[in-house]
This record gives sequence, structure tokens and C-alpha cells, in this order.
Amino acid sequence: MIDAAAVDAAVQAALAAIEAATDSGALKAARAAHAGEGSPLAALNASLRAVAPEHKAEFGKLVGQARGRVGQALAARETAIVEAETAAKLDAERVDITALASRARAGSRHPLTLLQEQIGDVFVGMGWEVAEGPELEHEWFNFDALNFDVDHPARQMQDTFFVDPVHRHLVMRTHTSPVQVRSMLERDIPIYVICPGRVYRTDEFDATHLPVFSQVEGLVIDKGITMANLKGTLDHFARVLFGPQAKTRFRANYFPFTEPSAELDLWHPTFKGGARWIEWGGCGMINPNVLRAAGIDPEVYSGFAFGMGIERTLMFRSDVQDMRDMAEGDVRFSEQFGMVV
Ligand code: DAH
Repeated sequence: MIDAAAVDAAVQAALAAIEAATDSGALKAARAAHAGEGSPLAALNASLRAVAPEHKAEFGKLVGQARGRVGQALAARETAIVEAETAAKLDAERVDITALASRARAGSRHPLTLLQEQIGDVFVGMGWEVAEGPELEHEWFNFDALNFDVDHPARQMQDTFFVDPVHRHLVMRTHTSPVQVRSMLERDIPIYVICPGRVYRTDEFDATHLPVFSQVEGLVIDKGITMANLKGTLDHFARVLFGPQAKTRFRANYFPFTEPSAELDLWHPTFKGGARWIEWGGCGMINPNVLRAAGIDPEVYSGFAFGMGIERTLMFRSDVQDMRDMAEGDVRFSEQFGMVV
């Protein structure tokens, strides 16, 4: 005899297991346990053989329907699980076909570095040497040895970054001129040095000022050096950077470390708005007080010096309108100057 309650229990157990299966592995296990060989329903099906002929149709139908329900439930669950698993896989392997392919960018050297190196090359080509000094400088090198008065305005807090503790007299150098003094103390005469580097002032950050910028300083100490040597050197420098038509002119000025001192103007023959004179930097003959501070006898030796801003030079050489572009480090700015190595 087949018990209808046993068939129903087998179906309920199968449906519960199918319902509980949430992935294809669990569904496979449920199929084996409740519909496969050796499952309660398979055993019931097998026992049909022993049922008396007059009850065969009735019980056959009962077991057949039970197997049909379980089979349908399995199929429905399988469809749902395959769909969910396929969707999850597609999601995990999603490719954004609108995204730009990532390319390794080679970058670009900064135009200030390039100009600084080019300037160095001009002078190294004439037998000069490149000299360097620290950016955190002693007040003595930055001001005193350069003959600045104790109450010179550049020494004020509002112009210069003094570094704590104040009694150590350290400043972020306000110009590259202290490298003149260091070179005179460290090197043997004759001295022919070019000194590029970073300098600091409490300036605004705007189109024509940066609180951190670069200068280049030139210094010569030898016997018999005159202002004609200074003029010839600067004219050559101007021609290399600005073309054969370029030249310089001096206007009387005052710097504590030179005597006489001059403002240096450049004739820029290819200036964007038309050829014109541009204020370029400062220069002069080394003040005897500076030579003495460095232990050099002004009766035997003389020398000249000059200095100019590199950002400013790049501005009018390459028609850069805003100095801040040089500080921001956007590679698109640098790339405009070419991939010079
Ligand atoms: N150090 C000066 C400045 O920052 C520039 C300068 C002027 C340098 C005259 C010199 C020089 O060597 O002789 O404004």
C-alpha cells in the first residue's frame, strides 16, 4: 500500500529543500536528495510495482503528480538561479567601453629647469663654473657680507622670511647673491662662477610675483676686471638667449654690494608685442667692502656681478602671461616647451 501522507511528506520536504537552495551547488544537492536515485520519491515510485492492480492507477497518478511537482519546482528554481548567477558574473566582469585606455605618460621637463640649464651651459661654454649655496642661509651671507646696512628695508620681517629661533639669524635667502660671498671664501682667485637657484620673499602670489622663485647670479673676480668685461659678458649672454640682434644697456642704480651699480635692460628683438627694451636684472662692480668681507684685497683684485630672475626671463622669452603657471606643476604647461632632454 502506498500512503498518500508519505507522498505528501516527500513532496513537502523536496519543495522546502528546493526553496532553500540559493546557488547551483545547493540546488544540485537538493535534486540528488529529493528527486534522484534513492530519494524517498524514487523509492515510492519503485514500490508501485508491489501495488495491487486495482489500485495501480490511483497510486500511479499520486506518485506521478508528486514527481511532476518536484520536477517543475526544480526547473523553476534552476532558471532563477542561472539568471541570478549570470547577472552577477556579468556585473563582476563589466567593462566600461567608454573609458579611455590608460597610457603611461612620459611627463615633461619643466621649462624653468631647461632655461636654468641652458644658462649654465652658456657660461660653462666660456670656462665658468656652476656654484651653489644653501636656500636656508645665514643673515651674514645674505645681508651683512654684502654690505647691507643694519636697517636696510630688505631686512624687515615684511620682506624676508626669518626662520625661528630668530637669535640664530637664519633667513630663507632673498637672492642668490650670498653665493658670491661663499664662492669668494671657498674658491681660489680667479673666480668665474654662475649661480642659479631658488630664492624666497614675502611677495604676493600673482601673475608677476611668486614668493618662491629662481634667480641666476654671475660673479667674476680677477685682476684688471672692468665694467667693459661686464658689458661684453652680458651682451653675449643676451645674444645666446634672445638672438643675434639682442643687446643690453645699463642705467645707474644702487645696490649695497656693487659700486658702481646698474640696472640692466635687455633689447628683446623678438618680443611678442614688437622689439623693445625690458628691465632684466641688476649688475655692477663688486663693492670693495664685499671683497674685504671675503678676505680679498681690493687693491689687487676687482670683479663684477650680475643677477636676474629666471621666471621673469622665461616670461618674456617664451611669452608666458602668468607666472603662476610656472609654479603649479601642470604637465600640460611644461609640454608646450617640447620634450627636450
Ligand atoms: N641680488 C639682487 C636682487 O635680488 C640682484 C642683483 C643686482 C644681483 C646687482 C647682482 C648685482 O649680482 O650685481 O635684487
